Amino acid sequence: MEQEKEDSLKKAPIGVFDSGVGGLTVAREIMRQIPNESIIYFGDTARVPYGNKSKDTVTKFSKQIVRFLRTHDVKAIVVACNTASACALDELERESDIPIIGVVRPGARAATEVTRNGKIGVIATEATIGSQIYNQYIKKLKKNVTIYGKACPLFVPLVEEGLWQDPVTDEIAKRYLAELIDCGIDTLILGCTHYPLIRSTIGRIIGEEVTLVNPAYETARELRSMLKEAGLLNEEAPGLGANKYQFYVSDSAEKFKQFANSIIKYGILSAKTVNIEDY
Ligand code: DGL
Repeated sequence: MEQEKEDSLKKAPIGVFDSGVGGLTVAREIMRQIPNESIIYFGDTARVPYGNKSKDTVTKFSKQIVRFLRTHDVKAIVVACNTASACALDELERESDIPIIGVVRPGARAATEVTRNGKIGVIATEATIGSQIYNQYIKKLKKNVTIYGKACPLFVPLVEEGLWQDPVTDEIAKRYLAELIDCGIDTLILGCTHYPLIRSTIGRIIGEEVTLVNPAYETARELRSMLKEAGLLNEEAPGLGANKYQFYVSDSAEKFKQFANSIIKYGILSAKTVNIEDY
């Protein structure tokens, strides 16, 4: 009986949420790195962006989403949004009796491991930069480092407009990254869900000697270890026909599907709209 309970817990899905479509860059890494896991994804497309909202508002939204995800009996939760990780993770962790992981700590850890000259740049939304959360985590892990933060608010709409390879994005990136280049950073954290999608533009402009850290990739790695340690890693692939990846949004499901299919090549067969204010 105990064994049966354990097995069914391992097969339970992982809840992943973001302010919108950006968290799909994290979901995509989870699909690649731990392919046996099922995912319930929620994108708060009606209330995006979180990046210019207050800590209280982002925390309230995040708690509603966690309540929604728990109705799907998820075994763990990934806060796939940097802004929500920065503003709400501590409180969500305190209230949660299941494992919960954000994207900031894994990104910070990786940056401390790769920097050689101790100069780390962080690009993110205004809320994430303002929270100083990357600085706090990095400083806890490594003493002699200097962190240079830069909010890049225009990157999110540029990515959502599909301008991934475009002279306009190049120009904006040049302006945003100029001061980080002057600071002589050797490591740059892509501290927002959308930035891995313009990684090649950012990499070209910041220079090849700067190592880019993708928190989405690092989070999937840490999630795997966390599940393994907790005895929750699903060792068997779900059977054929299992509804492995389910997507929910708070605004138009159709619009979400179009964008999502450009990020996730595994195919997003359907998405459903939920009224998140009910949770
Ligand atoms: N998902 C957000 C983040 O990673 C970016 C979009 C937003 O501002 O909501 O910070």
